[in-house]
Amino acid sequence: MSALLLILVTAISIVVAYRVYLTQALQLKARRAGCQPATRYKHKDPIFGLDIFLKMGNAMAKNQSLVEHRRRYDTYGHTYEAISLGSRVIFSIHPENLKVVWSKNNTDWGIQPLRLHNMAPFCGTGFITVDGPEWKQSHALLKPAFHKSNISDFTSLEENLRIVFDQIPKDGSKFDLQPWIFKLYLDMNGLFLFGESIGMLSGAPPVHTEGFLDAFQAGFNGCGLRIALGPLNFLMPKGSWLRACKKTHKFADVYVDRALEYREKHHLTQDGQAPPKQYTLLYNMAQQTGNKSVLRDQIVQAMMASTETTGSLISNIVHVLANNPPVFAALRAEVLAVGEEALDFNRLGRMEYLQNVITETLRLYPVFPQNIRVALKDTILPTGGGLGGTAPVFAPAGTLFDTSFAALHRDKNIWGPDADEFRASRWNGGFKPTRFEYMPFGAGLRQCLAQEKATMEASYIITRMLQEFKDIKSEDDRPYQAQVALTAKNANGCLVSLTPAT
Ligand code: HEM
Ligand SMILES: *[C@@H]1O[C@H](CO)[C@@H](O)[C@H](O)[C@H]1NC(C)=O
Ligand SMILES: *[C@@H]1O[C@H](CO)[C@@H](O)[C@H](O)[C@H]1NC(C)=O
Ligand SMILES: *[C@@H]1O[C@H](CO)[C@@H](O)[C@H](O)[C@H]1NC(C)=O
Ligand SMILES: *[C@@H]1O[C@H](CO)[C@@H](O)[C@H](O)[C@H]1NC(C)=O
Repeated sequence: MSALLLILVTAISIVVAYRVYLTQALQLKARRAGCQPATRYKHKDPIFGLDIFLKMGNAMAKNQSLVEHRRRYDTYGHTYEAISLGSRVIFSIHPENLKVVWSKNNTDWGIQPLRLHNMAPFCGTGFITVDGPEWKQSHALLKPAFHKSNISDFTSLEENLRIVFDQIPKDGSKFDLQPWIFKLYLDMNGLFLFGESIGMLSGAPPVHTEGFLDAFQAGFNGCGLRIALGPLNFLMPKGSWLRACKKTHKFADVYVDRALEYREKHHLTQDGQAPPKQYTLLYNMAQQTGNKSVLRDQIVQAMMASTETTGSLISNIVHVLANNPPVFAALRAEVLAVGEEALDFNRLGRMEYLQNVITETLRLYPVFPQNIRVALKDTILPTGGGLGGTAPVFAPAGTLFDTSFAALHRDKNIWGPDADEFRASRWNGGFKPTRFEYMPFGAGLRQCLAQEKATMEASYIITRMLQEFKDIKSEDDRPYQAQVALTAKNANGCLVSLTPAT
Protein backbone atom coordinates (compact mmCIF):
# COMPACT_ATOMS: atom_id res chain seq x y z
CA MET A 1 0.00 0.00 0.00
CA SER A 2 2.73 2.46 0.97
CA ALA A 3 4.58 1.62 -2.25
CA LEU A 4 1.45 2.47 -4.18
CA LEU A 5 1.16 5.75 -2.27
CA LEU A 6 4.76 6.59 -3.04
CA ILE A 7 4.22 5.94 -6.73
CA LEU A 8 1.08 8.05 -6.64
CA VAL A 9 2.78 10.98 -4.92
CA THR A 10 5.76 10.79 -7.29
CA ALA A 11 3.48 10.69 -10.34
CA ILE A 12 1.54 13.66 -9.06
CA SER A 13 4.69 15.70 -8.35
CA ILE A 14 6.01 15.05 -11.82
CA VAL A 15 2.74 16.16 -13.36
CA VAL A 16 2.75 19.38 -11.32
CA ALA A 17 6.35 20.31 -12.08
CA TYR A 18 5.90 19.58 -15.77
CA ARG A 19 2.77 21.69 -15.89
CA VAL A 20 4.30 24.73 -14.24
CA TYR A 21 7.15 24.58 -16.73
CA LEU A 22 4.89 24.17 -19.73
CA THR A 23 2.36 26.79 -18.72
CA GLN A 24 4.82 29.65 -18.94
CA ALA A 25 6.17 28.80 -22.38
CA LEU A 26 2.71 28.16 -23.75
CA GLN A 27 1.11 31.29 -22.36
CA LEU A 28 3.56 33.32 -24.38
CA LYS A 29 2.81 31.37 -27.55
CA ALA A 30 -0.94 31.72 -27.04
CA ARG A 31 -0.78 35.46 -26.44
CA ARG A 32 1.14 35.93 -29.66
CA ALA A 33 -1.64 34.15 -31.56
CA GLY A 34 -4.32 36.40 -30.00
CA CYS A 35 -5.80 33.56 -28.01
CA GLN A 36 -7.66 33.94 -24.75
CA PRO A 37 -8.59 31.20 -22.31
CA ALA A 38 -12.11 29.83 -22.26
CA THR A 39 -14.32 30.08 -19.18
CA ARG A 40 -12.86 27.95 -16.44
CA TYR A 41 -14.86 25.22 -14.73
CA LYS A 42 -15.24 26.06 -11.01
CA HIS A 43 -13.00 23.41 -9.54
CA LYS A 44 -12.77 22.37 -5.92
CA ASP A 45 -9.48 20.77 -6.86
CA PRO A 46 -7.91 23.13 -9.43
CA ILE A 47 -4.63 21.22 -9.61
CA PHE A 48 -5.59 17.67 -10.52
CA GLY A 49 -9.28 18.11 -11.16
CA LEU A 50 -10.17 15.10 -9.09
CA ASP A 51 -13.54 16.75 -8.41
CA ILE A 52 -14.74 16.87 -12.03
CA PHE A 53 -13.61 13.29 -12.52
CA LEU A 54 -15.47 12.02 -9.45
CA LYS A 55 -18.55 14.06 -10.25
CA MET A 56 -18.79 12.61 -13.74
CA GLY A 57 -18.16 9.10 -12.40
CA ASN A 58 -21.01 9.58 -9.96
CA ALA A 59 -23.31 10.91 -12.69
CA MET A 60 -22.46 7.92 -14.87
CA ALA A 61 -23.30 5.49 -12.06
CA LYS A 62 -26.71 7.18 -11.79
CA ASN A 63 -27.26 7.12 -15.56
CA GLN A 64 -27.20 10.94 -15.50
CA SER A 65 -23.98 11.71 -17.36
CA LEU A 66 -25.68 13.31 -20.36
CA VAL A 67 -27.77 15.47 -18.05
CA GLU A 68 -24.61 16.50 -16.20
CA HIS A 69 -22.87 17.46 -19.48
CA ARG A 70 -25.82 19.56 -20.52
CA ARG A 71 -26.07 21.25 -17.16
CA ARG A 72 -22.44 22.30 -17.44
CA TYR A 73 -22.85 23.72 -20.94
CA ASP A 74 -25.86 25.66 -19.61
CA THR A 75 -23.72 27.00 -16.79
CA TYR A 76 -20.45 27.75 -18.57
CA GLY A 77 -21.45 28.27 -22.20
CA HIS A 78 -20.57 26.44 -25.40
CA THR A 79 -16.87 26.21 -24.67
CA TYR A 80 -15.21 25.91 -21.27
CA GLU A 81 -12.11 24.31 -19.93
CA ALA A 82 -11.19 22.16 -16.98
CA ILE A 83 -8.48 19.96 -15.55
CA SER A 84 -9.38 16.30 -15.30
CA LEU A 85 -6.88 14.04 -13.52
CA GLY A 86 -4.10 16.41 -14.48
CA SER A 87 -5.04 16.71 -18.17
CA ARG A 88 -6.28 19.92 -19.70
CA VAL A 89 -9.70 19.41 -21.27
CA ILE A 90 -11.59 21.80 -23.49
CA PHE A 91 -15.28 20.99 -23.50
CA SER A 92 -17.02 22.39 -26.54
CA ILE A 93 -20.19 22.06 -28.56
CA HIS A 94 -19.44 25.05 -30.70
CA PRO A 95 -19.95 24.01 -34.37
CA GLU A 96 -17.04 26.25 -35.44
CA ASN A 97 -14.72 24.29 -33.18
CA LEU A 98 -16.18 20.93 -34.19
CA LYS A 99 -15.64 21.90 -37.80
CA VAL A 100 -11.94 22.36 -37.21
CA VAL A 101 -11.39 19.34 -34.98
CA TRP A 102 -13.44 16.95 -37.16
CA SER A 103 -12.51 18.32 -40.59
CA LYS A 104 -11.06 15.91 -43.13
CA ASN A 105 -7.84 17.77 -43.73
CA ASN A 106 -6.97 18.47 -40.10
CA THR A 107 -4.06 16.48 -38.77
CA ASP A 108 -3.65 18.57 -35.60
CA TRP A 109 -6.24 16.45 -33.79
CA GLY A 110 -6.38 12.68 -33.41
CA ILE A 111 -7.03 9.82 -31.03
CA GLN A 112 -3.94 7.62 -30.91
CA PRO A 113 -2.16 9.01 -27.79
CA LEU A 114 -5.43 8.67 -25.92
CA ARG A 115 -6.45 5.23 -27.06
CA LEU A 116 -3.66 3.01 -28.37
CA HIS A 117 -1.71 2.28 -25.17
CA ASN A 118 -4.93 2.01 -23.17
CA MET A 119 -6.68 -0.34 -25.56
CA ALA A 120 -3.96 -2.30 -27.34
CA PRO A 121 -4.01 -5.40 -25.07
CA PHE A 122 -7.70 -5.77 -25.96
CA CYS A 123 -7.96 -4.76 -29.59
CA GLY A 124 -4.46 -3.93 -30.86
CA THR A 125 -3.93 -1.67 -33.84
CA GLY A 126 -6.88 -0.72 -35.97
CA PHE A 127 -9.30 1.94 -37.11
CA ILE A 128 -10.40 2.73 -33.53
CA THR A 129 -6.93 3.07 -32.01
CA VAL A 130 -4.57 4.73 -34.50
CA ASP A 131 -4.14 7.88 -36.59
CA GLY A 132 -2.40 8.70 -39.84
CA PRO A 133 -1.26 6.18 -42.45
CA GLU A 134 -1.99 3.19 -40.19
CA TRP A 135 -5.56 4.36 -39.73
CA LYS A 136 -5.82 4.79 -43.49
CA GLN A 137 -4.76 1.18 -44.09
CA SER A 138 -7.36 -0.11 -41.62
CA HIS A 139 -10.04 2.03 -43.13
CA ALA A 140 -9.23 0.75 -46.62
CA LEU A 141 -9.35 -2.83 -45.37
CA LEU A 142 -12.85 -2.41 -43.97
CA LYS A 143 -14.49 -0.18 -46.51
CA PRO A 144 -15.51 -2.60 -49.32
CA ALA A 145 -17.65 -4.68 -46.96
CA PHE A 146 -19.90 -1.66 -46.39
CA HIS A 147 -20.63 -1.07 -50.06
CA LYS A 148 -24.33 -1.12 -50.90
CA SER A 149 -23.90 -4.36 -52.83
CA ASN A 150 -22.75 -6.10 -49.65
CA ILE A 151 -25.29 -4.73 -47.18
CA SER A 152 -28.58 -4.65 -49.05
CA ASP A 153 -29.73 -8.26 -48.72
CA PHE A 154 -32.29 -8.52 -45.91
CA THR A 155 -32.91 -12.28 -46.19
CA SER A 156 -31.19 -13.35 -43.00
CA LEU A 157 -32.35 -10.24 -41.14
CA GLU A 158 -35.93 -11.25 -41.98
CA GLU A 159 -35.36 -14.84 -40.78
CA ASN A 160 -33.93 -13.71 -37.47
CA LEU A 161 -36.45 -10.92 -37.01
CA ARG A 162 -39.23 -13.52 -37.18
CA ILE A 163 -37.72 -15.25 -34.18
CA VAL A 164 -37.96 -11.95 -32.27
CA PHE A 165 -41.59 -11.45 -33.40
CA ASP A 166 -42.36 -14.96 -32.13
CA GLN A 167 -41.21 -13.94 -28.65
CA ILE A 168 -43.57 -10.98 -28.44
CA PRO A 169 -46.71 -11.78 -26.40
CA LYS A 170 -49.78 -11.63 -28.65
CA ASP A 171 -52.23 -10.88 -25.81
CA GLY A 172 -50.88 -7.36 -25.29
CA SER A 173 -48.98 -8.13 -22.10
CA LYS A 174 -45.94 -6.15 -21.07
CA PHE A 175 -42.65 -7.09 -22.77
CA ASP A 176 -39.10 -5.72 -22.73
CA LEU A 177 -38.08 -5.60 -26.37
CA GLN A 178 -34.55 -4.26 -25.75
CA PRO A 179 -32.77 -7.51 -24.75
CA TRP A 180 -34.26 -9.28 -27.78
CA ILE A 181 -33.14 -6.56 -30.15
CA PHE A 182 -29.64 -6.85 -28.69
CA LYS A 183 -29.71 -10.63 -29.17
CA LEU A 184 -30.87 -10.12 -32.73
CA TYR A 185 -27.89 -7.86 -33.33
CA LEU A 186 -25.37 -10.15 -31.70
CA ASP A 187 -26.46 -12.78 -34.21
CA MET A 188 -26.68 -10.39 -37.17
CA ASN A 189 -23.26 -8.92 -36.40
CA GLY A 190 -21.83 -12.44 -36.21
CA LEU A 191 -23.17 -13.07 -39.70
CA PHE A 192 -21.92 -9.78 -41.09
CA LEU A 193 -18.51 -9.88 -39.46
CA PHE A 194 -17.56 -13.54 -39.77
CA GLY A 195 -20.35 -15.46 -41.44
CA GLU A 196 -21.82 -17.24 -38.43
CA SER A 197 -24.63 -16.38 -36.07
CA ILE A 198 -23.58 -16.82 -32.46
CA GLY A 199 -26.91 -18.43 -31.57
CA MET A 200 -28.33 -15.86 -29.17
CA LEU A 201 -31.83 -16.08 -30.64
CA SER A 202 -31.86 -19.81 -31.19
CA GLY A 203 -30.48 -20.38 -27.70
CA ALA A 204 -27.92 -22.77 -29.18
CA PRO A 205 -24.63 -20.88 -29.34
CA PRO A 206 -21.55 -22.67 -30.75
CA VAL A 207 -19.26 -24.12 -28.05
CA HIS A 208 -16.47 -21.56 -28.54
CA THR A 209 -18.94 -18.79 -27.63
CA GLU A 210 -19.04 -19.85 -24.00
CA GLY A 211 -18.00 -17.01 -21.69
CA PHE A 212 -17.19 -14.82 -24.67
CA LEU A 213 -19.83 -12.15 -24.14
CA ASP A 214 -18.78 -11.51 -20.54
CA ALA A 215 -15.13 -11.45 -21.54
CA PHE A 216 -15.84 -9.04 -24.38
CA GLN A 217 -17.79 -6.72 -22.08
CA ALA A 218 -15.07 -6.84 -19.42
CA GLY A 219 -12.36 -6.22 -22.02
CA PHE A 220 -14.27 -3.30 -23.49
CA ASN A 221 -15.03 -1.77 -20.07
CA GLY A 222 -11.38 -2.06 -19.06
CA CYS A 223 -10.39 0.04 -22.08
CA GLY A 224 -12.94 2.68 -21.08
CA LEU A 225 -11.72 2.79 -17.50
CA ARG A 226 -8.06 3.07 -18.55
CA ILE A 227 -8.86 5.97 -20.87
CA ALA A 228 -10.87 7.70 -18.15
CA LEU A 229 -8.04 7.27 -15.62
CA GLY A 230 -5.53 8.75 -18.05
CA PRO A 231 -2.14 9.19 -16.37
CA LEU A 232 -3.41 7.21 -13.37
CA ASN A 233 -4.36 4.16 -15.43
CA PHE A 234 -1.77 2.08 -13.55
CA LEU A 235 -4.21 2.14 -10.64
CA MET A 236 -6.50 -0.27 -12.47
CA PRO A 237 -5.67 -3.89 -11.57
CA LYS A 238 -4.82 -5.62 -14.83
CA GLY A 239 -5.05 -9.35 -14.12
CA SER A 240 -8.70 -10.05 -14.79
CA TRP A 241 -8.77 -7.55 -17.62
CA LEU A 242 -5.90 -9.27 -19.44
CA ARG A 243 -7.65 -12.64 -18.99
CA ALA A 244 -10.76 -11.12 -20.57
CA CYS A 245 -8.68 -9.80 -23.47
CA LYS A 246 -7.16 -13.25 -24.00
CA LYS A 247 -10.54 -14.93 -23.99
CA THR A 248 -11.83 -12.46 -26.56
CA HIS A 249 -8.82 -13.16 -28.80
CA LYS A 250 -9.45 -16.90 -28.52
CA PHE A 251 -12.99 -16.35 -29.73
CA ALA A 252 -11.91 -14.11 -32.61
CA ASP A 253 -9.13 -16.53 -33.61
CA VAL A 254 -11.65 -19.30 -34.32
CA TYR A 255 -12.96 -17.17 -37.15
CA VAL A 256 -9.65 -15.69 -38.19
CA ASP A 257 -8.23 -19.20 -38.60
CA ARG A 258 -11.20 -20.24 -40.71
CA ALA A 259 -10.79 -17.16 -42.89
CA LEU A 260 -7.08 -17.84 -43.34
CA GLU A 261 -7.78 -21.44 -44.26
CA TYR A 262 -10.29 -20.23 -46.79
CA ARG A 263 -7.80 -17.71 -48.12
CA GLU A 264 -5.27 -20.52 -48.56
CA LYS A 265 -7.70 -22.67 -50.55
CA HIS A 266 -8.94 -19.71 -52.49
CA HIS A 267 -5.41 -18.90 -53.60
CA LEU A 268 -4.63 -22.54 -54.40
CA THR A 269 -7.61 -22.94 -56.71
CA GLN A 270 -6.93 -19.55 -58.34
CA ASP A 271 -10.66 -19.19 -58.53
CA GLY A 272 -10.87 -15.36 -58.54
CA GLN A 273 -14.30 -15.25 -56.85
CA ALA A 274 -15.36 -15.96 -53.28
CA PRO A 275 -18.61 -17.85 -52.87
CA PRO A 276 -21.37 -15.38 -51.98
CA LYS A 277 -21.88 -16.75 -48.47
CA GLN A 278 -18.36 -15.65 -47.64
CA TYR A 279 -19.18 -11.98 -48.28
CA THR A 280 -18.45 -11.04 -44.71
CA LEU A 281 -16.23 -8.35 -43.30
CA LEU A 282 -13.59 -10.84 -42.18
CA TYR A 283 -13.40 -12.78 -45.45
CA ASN A 284 -13.39 -9.53 -47.31
CA MET A 285 -10.35 -8.38 -45.32
CA ALA A 286 -8.69 -11.80 -45.60
CA GLN A 287 -8.62 -11.32 -49.35
CA GLN A 288 -6.46 -8.28 -48.79
CA THR A 289 -4.14 -9.55 -46.05
CA GLY A 290 -3.08 -12.88 -44.55
CA ASN A 291 -1.60 -11.32 -41.41
CA LYS A 292 -3.32 -13.00 -38.49
CA SER A 293 -2.80 -10.28 -35.90
CA VAL A 294 -4.00 -7.60 -38.29
CA LEU A 295 -7.17 -9.57 -38.99
CA ARG A 296 -7.81 -10.29 -35.34
CA ASP A 297 -7.34 -6.66 -34.26
CA GLN A 298 -9.62 -5.35 -36.99
CA ILE A 299 -12.34 -7.87 -36.27
CA VAL A 300 -12.31 -7.20 -32.51
CA GLN A 301 -12.53 -3.47 -33.26
CA ALA A 302 -15.37 -4.08 -35.69
CA MET A 303 -17.18 -5.97 -32.93
CA MET A 304 -16.70 -2.92 -30.70
CA ALA A 305 -18.17 -0.59 -33.33
CA SER A 306 -21.18 -2.81 -34.00
CA THR A 307 -22.15 -4.19 -30.59
CA GLU A 308 -25.31 -2.47 -29.32
CA THR A 309 -25.13 0.39 -31.86
CA THR A 310 -27.86 -0.46 -34.36
CA GLY A 311 -29.70 -2.31 -31.56
CA SER A 312 -29.79 0.82 -29.39
CA LEU A 313 -31.06 2.89 -32.30
CA ILE A 314 -33.94 0.47 -32.90
CA SER A 315 -34.81 0.27 -29.22
CA ASN A 316 -34.86 4.10 -29.12
CA ILE A 317 -37.15 4.34 -32.16
CA VAL A 318 -39.59 1.91 -30.55
CA HIS A 319 -39.42 3.95 -27.32
CA VAL A 320 -40.34 7.07 -29.31
CA LEU A 321 -43.19 5.36 -31.16
CA ALA A 322 -44.63 3.82 -27.99
CA ASN A 323 -44.65 7.20 -26.26
CA ASN A 324 -46.01 9.29 -29.17
CA PRO A 325 -49.30 7.90 -30.48
CA PRO A 326 -49.61 10.53 -33.25
CA VAL A 327 -46.12 9.67 -34.51
CA PHE A 328 -46.99 5.99 -34.44
CA ALA A 329 -50.24 6.63 -36.34
CA ALA A 330 -48.56 8.72 -39.04
CA LEU A 331 -45.80 6.18 -39.50
CA ARG A 332 -48.20 3.24 -39.63
CA ALA A 333 -50.17 4.99 -42.37
CA GLU A 334 -46.98 5.31 -44.40
CA VAL A 335 -46.15 1.66 -43.79
CA LEU A 336 -49.61 0.49 -44.89
CA ALA A 337 -49.24 2.51 -48.09
CA VAL A 338 -46.26 0.33 -49.01
CA GLY A 339 -48.62 -2.66 -49.32
CA GLU A 340 -46.96 -5.72 -50.81
CA GLU A 341 -44.04 -3.89 -52.39
CA ALA A 342 -40.59 -5.31 -51.70
CA LEU A 343 -38.72 -3.57 -48.88
CA ASP A 344 -35.45 -2.75 -50.60
CA PHE A 345 -33.13 0.23 -50.13
CA ASN A 346 -34.95 2.18 -52.78
CA ARG A 347 -38.46 1.68 -51.32
CA LEU A 348 -37.38 2.22 -47.72
CA GLY A 349 -35.43 5.34 -48.67
CA ARG A 350 -38.57 6.79 -50.23
CA MET A 351 -40.52 6.48 -46.94
CA GLU A 352 -40.01 10.10 -46.00
CA TYR A 353 -41.75 10.08 -42.64
CA LEU A 354 -39.89 6.94 -41.56
CA GLN A 355 -36.56 8.51 -42.50
CA ASN A 356 -37.48 11.66 -40.57
CA VAL A 357 -38.42 9.59 -37.53
CA ILE A 358 -35.03 7.86 -37.61
CA THR A 359 -33.17 11.14 -38.14
CA GLU A 360 -35.06 12.82 -35.29
CA THR A 361 -34.51 9.83 -32.99
CA LEU A 362 -30.76 10.02 -33.64
CA ARG A 363 -30.91 13.73 -32.82
CA LEU A 364 -32.56 13.36 -29.42
CA TYR A 365 -30.96 10.03 -28.52
CA PRO A 366 -27.60 9.80 -30.27
CA VAL A 367 -26.18 6.30 -29.89
CA PHE A 368 -22.68 7.79 -29.62
CA PRO A 369 -23.46 10.67 -27.26
CA GLN A 370 -19.93 11.98 -26.88
CA ASN A 371 -16.41 11.77 -28.22
CA ILE A 372 -12.93 12.93 -27.34
CA ARG A 373 -10.02 14.02 -29.52
CA VAL A 374 -6.52 14.95 -28.47
CA ALA A 375 -4.29 17.73 -29.85
CA LEU A 376 -1.35 16.02 -31.57
CA LYS A 377 0.54 19.32 -31.72
CA ASP A 378 0.13 22.86 -30.43
CA THR A 379 -2.91 24.21 -32.21
CA ILE A 380 -5.69 26.78 -32.07
CA LEU A 381 -9.46 26.50 -31.81
CA PRO A 382 -11.26 29.30 -33.65
CA THR A 383 -13.68 30.30 -30.91
CA GLY A 384 -14.81 30.05 -27.29
CA GLY A 385 -12.17 32.20 -25.55
CA GLY A 386 -12.25 35.47 -23.64
CA LEU A 387 -15.10 37.18 -21.82
CA GLY A 388 -17.39 37.24 -24.84
CA GLY A 389 -16.49 33.64 -25.66
CA THR A 390 -15.50 34.47 -29.23
CA ALA A 391 -11.70 34.74 -29.13
CA PRO A 392 -9.57 31.87 -30.43
CA VAL A 393 -8.42 29.37 -27.81
CA PHE A 394 -4.93 27.96 -27.67
CA ALA A 395 -4.74 24.16 -27.33
CA PRO A 396 -1.22 22.91 -26.58
CA ALA A 397 -0.30 19.38 -27.68
CA GLY A 398 -1.97 16.86 -25.38
CA THR A 399 -5.07 18.98 -24.74
CA LEU A 400 -8.24 16.91 -24.83
CA PHE A 401 -11.24 18.12 -26.81
CA ASP A 402 -14.38 16.66 -25.30
CA THR A 403 -17.69 17.12 -27.07
CA SER A 404 -21.22 16.02 -26.32
CA PHE A 405 -23.29 15.29 -29.41
CA ALA A 406 -26.25 14.79 -27.09
CA ALA A 407 -25.92 18.41 -25.89
CA LEU A 408 -25.16 19.72 -29.41
CA HIS A 409 -28.30 18.02 -30.73
CA ARG A 410 -30.45 19.82 -28.15
CA ASP A 411 -28.88 23.25 -28.39
CA LYS A 412 -31.71 25.79 -28.61
CA ASN A 413 -29.54 28.16 -30.68
CA ILE A 414 -29.55 25.55 -33.42
CA TRP A 415 -32.88 23.77 -33.02
CA GLY A 416 -35.08 26.50 -31.59
CA PRO A 417 -37.14 26.59 -28.42
CA ASP A 418 -38.62 23.13 -28.99
CA ALA A 419 -35.17 21.50 -29.15
CA ASP A 420 -36.15 18.98 -26.47
CA GLU A 421 -39.29 17.87 -28.28
CA PHE A 422 -39.54 15.01 -30.73
CA ARG A 423 -40.78 16.64 -33.92
CA ALA A 424 -40.11 14.58 -37.04
CA SER A 425 -41.59 17.31 -39.22
CA ARG A 426 -38.68 19.63 -38.45
CA TRP A 427 -36.81 17.67 -41.14
CA ASN A 428 -39.45 18.37 -43.79
CA GLY A 429 -38.99 20.64 -46.74
CA GLY A 430 -35.25 20.37 -47.08
CA PHE A 431 -34.38 21.69 -43.61
CA LYS A 432 -30.73 20.81 -43.12
CA PRO A 433 -28.42 21.65 -40.26
CA THR A 434 -24.74 21.95 -41.11
CA ARG A 435 -22.51 18.89 -40.88
CA PHE A 436 -21.21 20.07 -37.53
CA GLU A 437 -24.57 20.76 -35.92
CA TYR A 438 -25.89 17.21 -36.32
CA MET A 439 -23.31 14.44 -35.95
CA PRO A 440 -24.85 11.10 -34.96
CA PHE A 441 -22.37 9.28 -37.19
CA GLY A 442 -19.44 11.58 -36.57
CA ALA A 443 -17.89 13.52 -39.45
CA GLY A 444 -14.74 13.80 -41.48
CA LEU A 445 -12.22 11.02 -41.94
CA ARG A 446 -13.47 8.75 -39.21
CA GLN A 447 -17.15 9.10 -40.06
CA CYS A 448 -19.08 5.86 -39.53
CA LEU A 449 -18.74 3.42 -42.42
CA ALA A 450 -22.01 1.75 -41.45
CA GLN A 451 -24.33 4.76 -41.61
CA GLU A 452 -26.32 3.42 -44.53
CA LYS A 453 -26.28 -0.13 -43.19
CA ALA A 454 -27.56 0.96 -39.77
CA THR A 455 -30.28 3.32 -41.00
CA MET A 456 -31.50 0.94 -43.69
CA GLU A 457 -31.70 -2.00 -41.30
CA ALA A 458 -33.53 0.18 -38.80
CA SER A 459 -35.91 1.20 -41.61
CA TYR A 460 -36.51 -2.43 -42.51
CA ILE A 461 -37.07 -3.62 -38.94
CA ILE A 462 -39.43 -0.78 -37.99
CA THR A 463 -41.43 -1.18 -41.19
CA ARG A 464 -41.78 -4.93 -40.68
CA MET A 465 -42.79 -4.34 -37.08
CA LEU A 466 -45.55 -1.93 -38.06
CA GLN A 467 -46.77 -4.41 -40.66
CA GLU A 468 -47.05 -7.12 -38.00
CA PHE A 469 -48.39 -4.98 -35.15
CA LYS A 470 -51.10 -2.37 -35.36
CA ASP A 471 -50.30 -0.75 -32.03
CA ILE A 472 -47.34 -0.31 -29.70
CA LYS A 473 -47.93 1.17 -26.25
CA SER A 474 -45.41 2.23 -23.64
CA GLU A 475 -45.58 0.27 -20.38
CA ASP A 476 -43.09 2.53 -18.63
CA ASP A 477 -43.68 6.00 -17.16
CA ARG A 478 -40.02 6.73 -16.64
CA PRO A 479 -38.37 9.03 -19.20
CA TYR A 480 -35.52 7.84 -21.39
CA GLN A 481 -32.46 7.59 -19.17
CA ALA A 482 -29.13 7.17 -20.91
CA GLN A 483 -26.83 4.47 -19.61
CA VAL A 484 -23.53 5.43 -21.18
CA ALA A 485 -20.53 3.22 -21.75
CA LEU A 486 -19.06 3.98 -25.18
CA THR A 487 -22.57 4.03 -26.57
CA ALA A 488 -25.79 5.06 -24.86
CA LYS A 489 -28.81 2.88 -24.40
CA ASN A 490 -31.98 3.32 -22.39
CA ALA A 491 -31.17 2.18 -18.85
CA ASN A 492 -34.83 1.23 -18.41
CA GLY A 493 -34.96 -0.99 -21.48
CA CYS A 494 -37.92 -0.81 -23.83
CA LEU A 495 -41.04 -1.92 -21.94
CA VAL A 496 -43.98 -2.04 -24.31
CA SER A 497 -47.13 -3.92 -25.16
CA LEU A 498 -47.98 -4.72 -28.77
CA THR A 499 -51.19 -5.54 -30.58
CA PRO A 500 -50.93 -7.93 -33.53
CA ALA A 501 -52.33 -6.61 -36.81
CA THR A 502 -54.40 -9.72 -37.44
C1 HEM B 1 -26.83 3.42 -35.26
C2 HEM B 1 -25.70 2.80 -35.38
C3 HEM B 1 -24.34 3.46 -35.41
C4 HEM B 1 -23.96 4.73 -35.06
C5 HEM B 1 -24.84 5.85 -34.52
C6 HEM B 1 -22.54 4.83 -35.31
C7 HEM B 1 -21.77 5.96 -35.06
C8 HEM B 1 -20.43 6.08 -35.34
C9 HEM B 1 -19.62 7.23 -35.03
C10 HEM B 1 -20.10 8.47 -34.30
C11 HEM B 1 -18.38 7.00 -35.49
C12 HEM B 1 -17.19 7.96 -35.40
C13 HEM B 1 -16.27 7.62 -34.27
C14 HEM B 1 -15.19 8.66 -34.08
O1 HEM B 1 -15.24 9.74 -34.69
O2 HEM B 1 -14.29 8.43 -33.24
C15 HEM B 1 -18.39 5.70 -36.09
C16 HEM B 1 -17.31 5.11 -36.72
C17 HEM B 1 -17.35 3.84 -37.24
N1 HEM B 1 -18.41 2.95 -37.23
FE1 HEM B 1 -20.25 3.33 -36.62
N2 HEM B 1 -22.09 3.64 -35.81
C18 HEM B 1 -23.15 2.78 -35.87
C19 HEM B 1 -23.13 1.47 -36.29
C20 HEM B 1 -22.04 0.83 -36.79
C21 HEM B 1 -22.00 -0.55 -37.17
C22 HEM B 1 -23.18 -1.51 -37.08
C23 HEM B 1 -20.75 -0.79 -37.63
C24 HEM B 1 -20.15 -2.05 -38.16
C25 HEM B 1 -20.75 -3.11 -38.49
C26 HEM B 1 -20.01 0.45 -37.56
C27 HEM B 1 -18.72 0.63 -38.00
C28 HEM B 1 -18.00 1.80 -37.85
C29 HEM B 1 -16.65 1.95 -38.31
C30 HEM B 1 -15.84 0.90 -39.05
C31 HEM B 1 -16.24 3.23 -37.93
C32 HEM B 1 -14.87 3.87 -38.12
C33 HEM B 1 -14.60 4.37 -39.50
C34 HEM B 1 -13.14 4.69 -39.66
O3 HEM B 1 -12.47 5.14 -38.71
O4 HEM B 1 -12.65 4.43 -40.73
N3 HEM B 1 -20.83 1.42 -37.03
N4 HEM B 1 -19.65 5.15 -35.97
C1 LIG C 1 -28.49 2.65 -14.26
O1 LIG C 1 -28.85 1.70 -15.23
C2 LIG C 1 -28.51 0.35 -14.94
C3 LIG C 1 -28.91 -0.50 -16.09
O2 LIG C 1 -30.27 -0.50 -16.31
C4 LIG C 1 -29.18 -0.08 -13.64
O3 LIG C 1 -28.75 -1.38 -13.31
C5 LIG C 1 -28.83 0.89 -12.53
O4 LIG C 1 -29.56 0.55 -11.36
C6 LIG C 1 -29.16 2.30 -12.94
N1 LIG C 1 -28.73 3.20 -11.89
C7 LIG C 1 -29.56 4.06 -11.30
C8 LIG C 1 -29.00 4.83 -10.13
O5 LIG C 1 -30.70 4.26 -11.68
C1 LIG D 1 -9.09 22.49 -44.47
O1 LIG D 1 -9.92 22.89 -45.55
C2 LIG D 1 -10.67 24.07 -45.29
C3 LIG D 1 -11.58 24.33 -46.46
O2 LIG D 1 -11.65 23.30 -47.34
C4 LIG D 1 -9.72 25.24 -45.07
O3 LIG D 1 -10.47 26.41 -44.80
C5 LIG D 1 -8.82 24.92 -43.91
O4 LIG D 1 -7.87 25.94 -43.73
C6 LIG D 1 -8.09 23.60 -44.11
N1 LIG D 1 -7.40 23.27 -42.87
C7 LIG D 1 -6.16 22.76 -42.85
C8 LIG D 1 -5.63 22.42 -41.50
O5 LIG D 1 -5.51 22.58 -43.86
C1 LIG E 1 -18.31 -6.81 -51.50
O1 LIG E 1 -17.53 -7.78 -50.83
C2 LIG E 1 -16.74 -8.58 -51.69
C3 LIG E 1 -16.06 -9.69 -50.95
O2 LIG E 1 -16.54 -9.96 -49.71
C4 LIG E 1 -15.70 -7.72 -52.36
O3 LIG E 1 -14.89 -8.50 -53.19
C5 LIG E 1 -16.41 -6.64 -53.13
O4 LIG E 1 -15.44 -5.76 -53.62
C6 LIG E 1 -17.41 -5.90 -52.29
N1 LIG E 1 -18.21 -5.09 -53.16
C7 LIG E 1 -17.90 -3.87 -53.48
C8 LIG E 1 -18.74 -3.27 -54.53
O5 LIG E 1 -16.98 -3.26 -52.97
C1 LIG F 1 1.61 -8.49 -39.11
O1 LIG F 1 1.38 -7.10 -38.99
C2 LIG F 1 1.98 -6.51 -37.85
C3 LIG F 1 1.49 -5.08 -37.74
O2 LIG F 1 1.53 -4.45 -38.98
C4 LIG F 1 3.49 -6.63 -37.97
O3 LIG F 1 4.11 -6.04 -36.85
C5 LIG F 1 3.86 -8.09 -38.09
O4 LIG F 1 5.24 -8.21 -38.32
C6 LIG F 1 3.09 -8.76 -39.22
N1 LIG F 1 3.31 -10.20 -39.16
C7 LIG F 1 3.64 -10.91 -40.22
C8 LIG F 1 3.79 -12.37 -40.00
O5 LIG F 1 3.80 -10.40 -41.31
